[in-house]
Amino acid sequence: MYLVVGATGPVGLGGEMCHQLRSAGHRVRALVRPTANEDRLADLARIGVELIHGDLRNPPSLDEACRGIETVISTASMMVSRQQGDTVETVDGAGQTDLVDAANAAGVHSFVYVSFSKHIDRDFPFRNAKRAVEQRLKQSRLAYTILRPTFLMEVWLSPIAGFDFRNARARIYGGGRNPISWISMYDVARFAAISLDTPLARNATFELGGPEAISPLDAVRIFEEVGGRPFQLEFVSEEELTEQQQNAPDSLQRSLAGLSRCYAEGDVIDMTAILRSFPMALTSVREYACRAREGGESVVHQ
Ligand SMILES: NC(=O)c1ccc[n+]([C@@H]2O[C@H](COP(=O)([O-])OP(=O)(O)OC[C@H]3O[C@@H](n4cnc5c(N)ncnc54)[C@H](OP(=O)(O)O)[C@@H]3O)[C@@H](O)[C@H]2O)c1
Repeated sequence: MYLVVGATGPVGLGGEMCHQLRSAGHRVRALVRPTANEDRLADLARIGVELIHGDLRNPPSLDEACRGIETVISTASMMVSRQQGDTVETVDGAGQTDLVDAANAAGVHSFVYVSFSKHIDRDFPFRNAKRAVEQRLKQSRLAYTILRPTFLMEVWLSPIAGFDFRNARARIYGGGRNPISWISMYDVARFAAISLDTPLARNATFELGGPEAISPLDAVRIFEEVGGRPFQLEFVSEEELTEQQQNAPDSLQRSLAGLSRCYAEGDVIDMTAILRSFPMALTSVREYACRAREGGESVVHQ
């Protein structure tokens, strides 16, 4: 049986993982909070996911959730979806390492952890938490698969990060000219699902990107072509981001500024070698923009 932690968020990577696992006929348990979005909880129940209440900030609940589990998949994070008391340190740091420890102690066999790209490498709390959890996992007796996707389209090319395609407005971090291999969370979920079935993913770390590296300004151009109207742009300079990071009132704001600085610097990930071992079609920014225009298959599960 699989345990998915992080299945109820608005971006939806964990929820998508549950869908893919259930479609393949696997038994899935999800650790959820009573405060989670009701529609997403109902959706998980509808597809036959067993729901167990718990919280990354509550270690005994993690012990309980890991009982009888073969593989833990953790996509949870407080960066987008958080409750009062959640901090980078207590959720993405201690909460995730407690989950690794709980899985280890419960005799779980393997653990899939969603981290982020190695190029996101500035000193800020969220990056430090991700790397600390990776280390804890590698030091455990669990078979690990660490996924390191770069910037998700469903976050950084969405209203969550100021890319408001419905109103043709976009916030650009930095000058907007450095390329990023934007990846869709659906592709991260598919990659995760494939990795569960192959020994190649045992004790392995994968840097994940989309099919092409294009700059934020190129992404805007694609959205303008697809939507047939020009975007209004707002730039946040690298100097402003540095200042925001230095003067941030808390670790969340420091991390958001740190992430935005990394976006400004660009992040190119060449998928050629990985795709030889894990053949799959990757979503392009144009395909994502068309999906956004249709508003059909939800781009951001709001
Ligand atoms: N955004 C990016 O560009 C990017 C890039 C690379 C990697 N990633 C990683 O991808 C993963 C998935 O991201 P996402 O955007 O899909 O996330 P998301 O939709 O915001 O979902 C986050 C999930 O974490 C859960 N969570 C938060 N705090 C928790 C706690 N204290 N205890 C238990 N669960 C808690 C949330 O539960 P509730 O619904 O109860 O709040 C929600 O289910 C994250 O690990 C993220 O760091 C993101």
